Amino acid sequence: MKDIKELGEPVFSRGLENIYFTQTELSYIDGKAGKLYYVGIPIEELAEKSSFEEVAFLLLHRRLPTKKELEEFDRKLKENRRVRVEKIASFANYPRDAHPMAALRTAISEIGLFDPTAEDLSPESLYEKSVSLIAKFPTVVAALRRLREGKLPIEPRDDLSHAANFFYMMNGYEPSPEQERALDVALILHADHGMNASTFTALVIAATDSDIYSAIVGAIGALKGPRHGGANERVLKMIRDIESPEQVPEWFKQKLEKKERIMGMGHRVYKAYDPRARILKRYAAEMVKAHGMSREYEILVAIEKEAEKYLAPKGIYPNVDFYSGVVYSDLGFPIEFFTPIFAVARVAGWTAHILEYKEKDDRLIRPRAQYTGELDKPYVPVDER
Ligand SMILES: CC(C)(COP(=O)(O)OP(=O)(O)OC[C@H]1O[C@@H](n2cnc3c(N)ncnc32)[C@H](O)[C@@H]1OP(=O)(O)O)[C@@H](O)C(=O)NCCC(=O)NCCS
Repeated sequence: MKDIKELGEPVFSRGLENIYFTQTELSYIDGKAGKLYYVGIPIEELAEKSSFEEVAFLLLHRRLPTKKELEEFDRKLKENRRVRVEKIASFANYPRDAHPMAALRTAISEIGLFDPTAEDLSPESLYEKSVSLIAKFPTVVAALRRLREGKLPIEPRDDLSHAANFFYMMNGYEPSPEQERALDVALILHADHGMNASTFTALVIAATDSDIYSAIVGAIGALKGPRHGGANERVLKMIRDIESPEQVPEWFKQKLEKKERIMGMGHRVYKAYDPRARILKRYAAEMVKAHGMSREYEILVAIEKEAEKYLAPKGIYPNVDFYSGVVYSDLGFPIEFFTPIFAVARVAGWTAHILEYKEKDDRLIRPRAQYTGELDKPYVPVDER
C-alpha cells in the first residue's frame, strides 16, 4: 500500500472540475470546438446514419456491430422488453403526483429487487443485465406515463424498432416514419456524454462492488436534478408565460438583471455550441413546420438570438436540452416525462461505462474533501454549553 506521502498533496478542484479519474474509449467531447464523438465516430454521422440499437451496441462493445451481430442484438433487446405483470401492478400503486423520475427510480429499484442474478458481478452477467435494462427502460417509462393518466399500460411489440415501440407504448398508436426517426435521433444524441454527473454517480456506486441496479438507480437520481437532465422540462416551463417572440428581448434583460439562469443554456464542458442542440434544432424546425409548437420554437429561437449577444461571449450557448422539449412535445410526450425519456437513452451510456470501468479500472472511487475546521477542540459536556 502506498504511504500517504508518496501520493503527494491532494489537488484541489471544486466540483472535481477538470480532473481525470479514469480513462474511457466511449465518448469524447471537444468542448472548445463543439464536437462530440461516440467511440471515435462524430455524433453527426451517427445521428444521420445509425439507429439507437446500433449505438447501444457500439457503446457496450466499443465497436460497431456486423450486420449479423446487430440483428442478434436487436433480437436480444426485443426479448428483454417485457416487464412482469406483477411489477407493472406494483407501479400502479405509486402516487400519481410524484415526479416520474422518482417513480422511475423506484421502479428500476423494484426490478433489481426481484432479479435473482442482481448480485452476480461477472462480466457476462453484468452484460446481460445491461441489455435487459436498456430494453426495459422504455417499457417502464411508458407504463408510468399510462398509469399516471389512469390508462392501462401497453405491451411492447416485437415488430417495431426500439424508438417506434417506445413511441407506441407511450402514445397508444404507431409513429409516422418521421416521428420514429426524430425519436430515434433524440435517443442517439442522449445515449452518452463523457463523465457527466449521472454517469459518475453510476461508477462511484459500481466501483464499491455494489450491484448494477443500485448504480443505475443512483444515476437516475443524479439525472433528475435541474442542473443535469432535469433542465429539459424546465425549458418549456420557463417560456410558458412568454406570449410571443417580440416579448423576448425585455424578458431576457430582466432575467439577466435578476441573475437568473436561462435553462437549456451553458455547459460545464462545452464552451461552444453543443452539436446535439444543432441537430435537435433542425428536427424541431422541421416538426413545427409540419404540425404546431411554433410559438415555443419561435420563442426559443428569439432567446437564442438574445443569448448570442449577451451569453455567447462568456462561452454560453444552447445545450442539448434547449430544443429537445419542442421535439418531445411534438411527439406527444408530456413535459414531466422529458427527463425519463433522457434516461431511456442514457441508460445505454451508464451501463456501457460500468462495463468498461469494471473491465479496465475497477478501483474504488474515493476523492477527498479539504478539511477547513479547527482541530483538537475540547469536548464540552452538554450542560456546560
Ligand atoms: C450547466 C451549468 C450547471 C454549468 O455550469 P458551470 O460550468 O458550473 O458554470 P458556472 O455556474 O460556473 O457559470 C459560469 C458563468 O456563466 C453564467 N451562466 C452559466 N450558465 C448560465 C445560464 N444558463 N444562463 C445565464 N448565465 C449562465 C454564470 O452565471 C456564471 O457567470 P459569472 O461568472 O458572471 O458568475 C450551467 O450552465 C447551468 O446552470 N445551465 C442551466 C441549466 C442547464 O441547462 N443544464 C443542462 C446542462 S446539459
